[in-house]
Amino acid sequence: MSVPHRAPAELLNSRRSPLLVFAGQSNRPLAQAICDHLGVPLGRSKTEKFTNDNIIVHYEESLREGDVFIVQTFSNPVSDSIMELMLMIDAAKSASAGRVTAVIPYYSYARSDKKDSPRISIAGRLIADLLQEAGADRILTMTLHAPQVHGFFKVPVDHLSADLVLSEHFRQCVPDAHNGVVLAPDAGSIKRASQIARRLDSGLAMIDKERLSDTEVRPRALIGDVDGKTVFIVDDEISTAGSLVETVNIARSMGAKDVYVAVTHGVYSGPAIQRIAALDVTQVASTNTVLVPDSKIQASNGRLAVLDVAPLFANAITNIHTGASVSTLFT
Ligand code: R5P
Repeated sequence: MSVPHRAPAELLNSRRSPLLVFAGQSNRPLAQAICDHLGVPLGRSKTEKFTNDNIIVHYEESLREGDVFIVQTFSNPVSDSIMELMLMIDAAKSASAGRVTAVIPYYSYARSDKKDSPRISIAGRLIADLLQEAGADRILTMTLHAPQVHGFFKVPVDHLSADLVLSEHFRQCVPDAHNGVVLAPDAGSIKRASQIARRLDSGLAMIDKERLSDTEVRPRALIGDVDGKTVFIVDDEISTAGSLVETVNIARSMGAKDVYVAVTHGVYSGPAIQRIAALDVTQVASTNTVLVPDSKIQASNGRLAVLDVAPLFANAITNIHTGASVSTLFT
């Protein structure tokens, strides 16, 4: 009778899911920076398009039993970015990955979080469903437009914040930041603005804003006092910079001295760069959740700055991989 082969106990105990990080095409510099902080190589994969515009993704190394993190931000072309991520998740599961975490630094569809006009899709929830259907076991993201978008996912979501990075940046630019005022451009950003004001020990103000369309906003009033003060405008994202222009104009008309801006996601779509180049502000900073090409930085009249959040993502990945708390990263 043959004795069944048994692996030695040390061999079984030494088997741990290797940490594997891959990236789609949307923000490879951020993925590389995350890997540099982690001290692991960026995994080898290839994405191509067939002549009929279909995308094909191919991993060029084994993922078997791996703890796989796929970095893909939802930036222009957003639909391709989402499709590529879904294919990468699906291919990783088919290749026997042990666990797949979708690392989505900018979840753009978080803006579609409610049915605010008739006969529309709540696309933020639909994309969440699709990612889970593709096989995502976890999501790691940063500064969702509305925090409750977290609830669109049934799988665990680690929702990072760039607020510490933004407030430290303000403090470096303006050593007496505590004499300034943090200005929330609308009611939706008041909580974030309040947290940053507390970190800076500064004042707080807010604008009562009305959105007329995707590209048009109308400010109605500034609540608070910015007269003669350095103003720090914070927001989740800048897209067309329409909100930003209105916010800066009203702050200036109410006597703001210097204006600094810092947001998590610098999307800079459509007329944003021309608007920022002509804007009466000292600086507009955003993090590298979205890749800001050098051409945009040069065209901004020296206004744009990019802040690095790769260490935050690397720390979160380390803690997820080792089973340590992610919330401790915020304290
Ligand atoms: C609005 O609710 C958001 O917080 C941002 O202010 C908005 O997404 C920015 O868009 P835009 O730059 O096109 O005005």
